[in-house]
Amino acid sequence: MSEDLQANRTREIDDYIQALFPPDEALAFTLRNSEAHNLPHINVSPNEGRLLYILAKMCGARKILEIGTLGGFSTINLARALPPDGKLLSLEYSTRHAELARANIVHAGLQKLVEVRVGAALDLLPQIEESGEGPFDLFFIDADKENYPGYLDWAIRLSRPGSVILSDNLIRNGAVINPPPDNETAQVIHRYNQELADNPRLDTMILPIIRESIDGLGITLVK
Ligand code: SAH
Ligand code: DHB
Ligand code: MG
Repeated sequence: MSEDLQANRTREIDDYIQALFPPDEALAFTLRNSEAHNLPHINVSPNEGRLLYILAKMCGARKILEIGTLGGFSTINLARALPPDGKLLSLEYSTRHAELARANIVHAGLQKLVEVRVGAALDLLPQIEESGEGPFDLFFIDADKENYPGYLDWAIRLSRPGSVILSDNLIRNGAVINPPPDNETAQVIHRYNQELADNPRLDTMILPIIRESIDGLGITLVK
């Protein structure tokens, strides 16, 4: 089969799965609202969002820390897995993104469970440790890729044995396999993936994810 046919087939398979489990009203609203406000199209796909929900529910997460909110699409999927007394804290650098996310979270009826905190995540994370808000049961790392290694260190610090750390965008259509010298992001993620593999405190699998191209979600268990 030619590469083009294979790419079409891959797209059809993702669409087939999404048609079986379509985004509901609140998720569709979030996507439309994000589009209307010209947010970049870098949210997780509906299928990946559902995977986040299922994983959070499977591990019985009560406290979730997300790094990188954007319009709150992944946030809403994750928060829906929480019990009524659960909490999701989401860190976002952009005030504009945070405000739109808050509106989408209110629309989804999740404002009691979710806090969007504005700032550079590497500034906020030490404050979260000092204020004793941890440990968290589940982390979703999805902000600026250059800081992923720093975010992983903080996630481990704010975890307990059994915590789950999810890392988005670990494959980048294969750019991470042999990263070209001019692709700094791919180089950082290439090293990040090796660190996930080598760290004796972590058990990790990288699940390929169908997006516009193939990407990947790191699924890590803290031992
Ligand atoms: N998790 C979202 C997508 C996040 S996109 C979803 O799937 O729906 C990445 C987000 O990280 C952007 O909104 C960007 O503004 C934010 N970001 C970038 N650098 C950051 C930093 N240093 N600290 C916190 N957020 C950052
Ligand atoms: C980009 C960032 C993301 O978090 C993502 O899921 C896809 C793309 C980006 O910055 O290009
Ligand atoms: Mg992402």
